Amino acid sequence: MGLLPIRLRFQNHRSTQLLCASFHFIPNSGYFSQILSSNKNLSKCLPFTLRTRKSVVRALATESASPPAAKMVKAIRVHELGGPEVLKWEDVEVGEPKEGEVRVKNKAIGINFIDVYFRKGVYKAATVPYTPGVEACGVVTAVGPGLTGRQVGDLVAYAGQPMGSYAEEQILPANRVVPVPPSIDPTVAASLLLKGMTAQFLLRSCFKVEPGHTVLVHAAAGGVGSLLCQWANSLGATVIGTVSTKEKAAQAKEDGCHHVIIYKEEDFVARVKEITSDNGVEVVYDSVGKDTFEGSLACLKTRGYMVSFGQSSGAPDPVPLSAIAVKSLFLTRPSLFHYAVTRDELLGMAGEVFGNVQSGVLRVRVNHTYPLSQAVQAHEDLENRKTSGSVVLIP
Ligand SMILES: NC(=O)c1ccc[n+]([C@@H]2O[C@H](COP(=O)([O-])OP(=O)(O)OC[C@H]3O[C@@H](n4cnc5c(N)ncnc54)[C@H](OP(=O)(O)O)[C@@H]3O)[C@@H](O)[C@H]2O)c1
Repeated sequence: MGLLPIRLRFQNHRSTQLLCASFHFIPNSGYFSQILSSNKNLSKCLPFTLRTRKSVVRALATESASPPAAKMVKAIRVHELGGPEVLKWEDVEVGEPKEGEVRVKNKAIGINFIDVYFRKGVYKAATVPYTPGVEACGVVTAVGPGLTGRQVGDLVAYAGQPMGSYAEEQILPANRVVPVPPSIDPTVAASLLLKGMTAQFLLRSCFKVEPGHTVLVHAAAGGVGSLLCQWANSLGATVIGTVSTKEKAAQAKEDGCHHVIIYKEEDFVARVKEITSDNGVEVVYDSVGKDTFEGSLACLKTRGYMVSFGQSSGAPDPVPLSAIAVKSLFLTRPSLFHYAVTRDELLGMAGEVFGNVQSGVLRVRVNHTYPLSQAVQAHEDLENRKTSGSVVLIP
């Protein structure tokens, strides 16, 4: 017995109405055992119809019942903005992919700090309620009509819009998914694509790091930070990283930081001046925001680049032009979504990231995995600075 949505034209001696409802249909019997509808008219009228005009109802329903029953999956939903507790574990409907779309059954889902910004309302979700998440890896389970180039069974990953990866299965635009090389584990891919492409555009486009440069990376043991440090080191830069604890300092060292500063205990500006013999650094990659922004400007050398790409401690205070005029500094507030716009850009960036994993330049630290149903705990840990490396949800 299945649940079938149908549209029913009901006729009685006074009027004709078009009503929508869901019916439990008993196969081979032609009968509906139960009617689910919020429409009061329908619930009043239909028992009468079923008693007296079974054949009419049966004929209409058989014609209209061709669409398959809605597929339900588990997902995390946000109905109101707030703390981690607003992440609710629910059933959601996942439809069939339309033209240009694929349906993907997620194997692993990457958690990113941006998920926290949306949950709190720092960034505005297009709709509320919504399903969070902008990174996942999974298997294609259906392709939309006319789509070529993607097949059922393909292992793909995605990073960015549309939101909705905290789900067992989701619909995605086919041009936003990238194929995952067979040598890369799905959990690694899900914890790598968004963070790795972020490291890629920061180091290779936003400011081009070259041998001999000195770079400062805040939150060096975080998801993006870990990849940034390894990659910057491989490009020949001297890497200075900041972290909050000794354990994170040990990880940052392993990830290629030549100098690690525990910024909760030490004055990072003074330490950078000491390390660079008062010269300062060519570039600061600052994802911490409010707590570090001003100090980061002070760490730069003349004509240095301030790359403010996140705000895990809060939005930085407004910056007067005089603050960057003093050393002819460059200031940018970039977003991955503006660097991976076209299909070619997306494929080029993802290819470089996967290539760096395959060649050993990048070691992906999947330090924390949680069942998808426990996203609340995962968000709590991320916000409370208890995590390092990547955080992944497993459906
Ligand atoms: N612009 C873009 O396109 C783009 C793309 C991806 C990510 N990002 C940004 O990159 C940053 C890192 O993202 P991620 O997902 O990899 O997260 P993450 O770095 O793994 O986690 C955030 C880290 O920030 C540090 N932090 C400092 N002050 C904090 C505070 N008050 N509250 C919480 N954390 C604080 C913590 O490291 P310590 O304990 O060592 O201080 C924490 O582990 C985020 O700001 C994110 O928005 C930007």
